[in-house]
Amino acid sequence: QTRTVPEQGGRVGLPARTTRGGVLAQRDENRPAAVLLAAGRGTRMRSRLPKVMHRVAGLPLIGHVLSGLAPLGCRSEIVVVAPDMPEVAAAVAPRPTAIQPEQRGTGHAVAAALTSLEGQTGDVLVLYGDTPFIRTETLRRMLERRRASDNPAVVVLGFRPESPAEYGRLIVDGAGRLERIVEFRDASAMERTIGLCNSGVMAIDGSKLRSLIDRLDDHNAKKEFYLTDIVAIARKDNAACAVVEAAEDELLGINSRADLAVAEAVMQTRLRAAAMANGATLIDPASVFFAWDTIIGQDVVIGPNVVFGPGVSVADGVSIGAFCHIEGAAIESGCSIGPFARLRTGSKIGRDAKVGNFVEVKNSRFGEGAKANHLSYVGDTDVGAKANIGAGTITANYDGFDKHQTRIGDGASIGSNVVLRAPVEIGAGAIVAAGSVVTRNVPADALVVARGEETIKDGWATEFRARKQRGRKDRKKE
Ligand code: UD1
Ligand code: CA
Repeated sequence: QTRTVPEQGGRVGLPARTTRGGVLAQRDENRPAAVLLAAGRGTRMRSRLPKVMHRVAGLPLIGHVLSGLAPLGCRSEIVVVAPDMPEVAAAVAPRPTAIQPEQRGTGHAVAAALTSLEGQTGDVLVLYGDTPFIRTETLRRMLERRRASDNPAVVVLGFRPESPAEYGRLIVDGAGRLERIVEFRDASAMERTIGLCNSGVMAIDGSKLRSLIDRLDDHNAKKEFYLTDIVAIARKDNAACAVVEAAEDELLGINSRADLAVAEAVMQTRLRAAAMANGATLIDPASVFFAWDTIIGQDVVIGPNVVFGPGVSVADGVSIGAFCHIEGAAIESGCSIGPFARLRTGSKIGRDAKVGNFVEVKNSRFGEGAKANHLSYVGDTDVGAKANIGAGTITANYDGFDKHQTRIGDGASIGSNVVLRAPVEIGAGAIVAAGSVVTRNVPADALVVARGEETIKDGWATEFRARKQRGRKDRKKE
């Protein structure tokens, strides 16, 4: 049972910061630091939400970047935001944010983080908040390239997109050494024919960063301080610069809702492949949607049209029928879920339990082998082992002001069409008669019948019909 993507934790569904990193046992000041640029407006998203807060597989874009970064155990991860982005600051907390007062370019954005980087002599990784799929492995390759004998001051992540469009171009000499980066708008016709493009991701010598940034100017087509110009500046100092290449799909940038949909599709394809590689059967993979942190065990069978929200773990041997919607739920081994079941946040489904069609479960625990097979709402409830909840049972947990708990003991049997008005407790082994509305606690092994008295009158229906027919004849005569 493995996670398809790195560890979750922390706030707003963002990955927790790994303080003790997986990388090389480095002295603290030599550990890499990261700067994530996220101050851009993202106008093409046409949204009130900052671009990096839009979600892919349930996680904000910035969270994906942070999860790729997490295994490196950076000394600090500084997120550069615009002044009006409290949502981003809250989402990435406790990581520090640096505020870039005006958006005057990528170099200007890195400058905003310089005070937070004081004393950083190791590598500084610069990443973009809107390029969510950057892989840890690629960042590691960049850090390794920095250690090579030519001691490059700047390592730039390059790629060769199918349509290079308006990306910056990497100008490399005959020996493969990076000389400078030219932005599309400033490039000559010749330079525009170059296929090797700038992804934006860089690994920079921390001891040189400030001096490089200090020398940037805005004498260019966009009148911005381009981070890309640090390459030419480093070359003037006679420092080497280098390129590491990665595949295009890893460097997918998001600028519009259409790009977001493409990113979602790419991510879902990866998550489905990972689930299958881990030993799950997806009958129709294209119709199953995972969250970034979904955990799927071995020999899990998932039917068509199943949607997972964040915070779900599914243990081995579970079967999930078609059309289920599951979020914030832990499902133990051997369970059978759905078809058409909805598990909401706080659901803990014990071993071999069954949650059937049109059953909604919220913030409830099902003990081992417990069952709710048909048409029920089970909320704020503790269901004992082997208890059975009949069709149409409702736990009435809300009185219009507060939510209340229901407890159903081990082996209790709840008949069909029962309302359990919380707070209420049904003892172990007790039986609740069908159609009951239960408002008081029921002792263990008791029977509760709480419905209108049943009366049977022999021949009453025949008499009733006769009476009605007589009445009709009389009216016709009038
Ligand atoms: C940048 C690169 C280009 C590269 C491309 C890859 C520069 C000058 N150009 O261009 O070579 O091919 O990315 O996608 O670096 N940002 C800020 N503050 C700012 C400006 C930008 O935080 O003042 C952030 C944005 O939020 C975004 C990132 O920096 O996350 C990139 O900015 P963007 O304006 O999209 O750069 P491009 O023009 O695409
Ligand atoms: Ca961009």
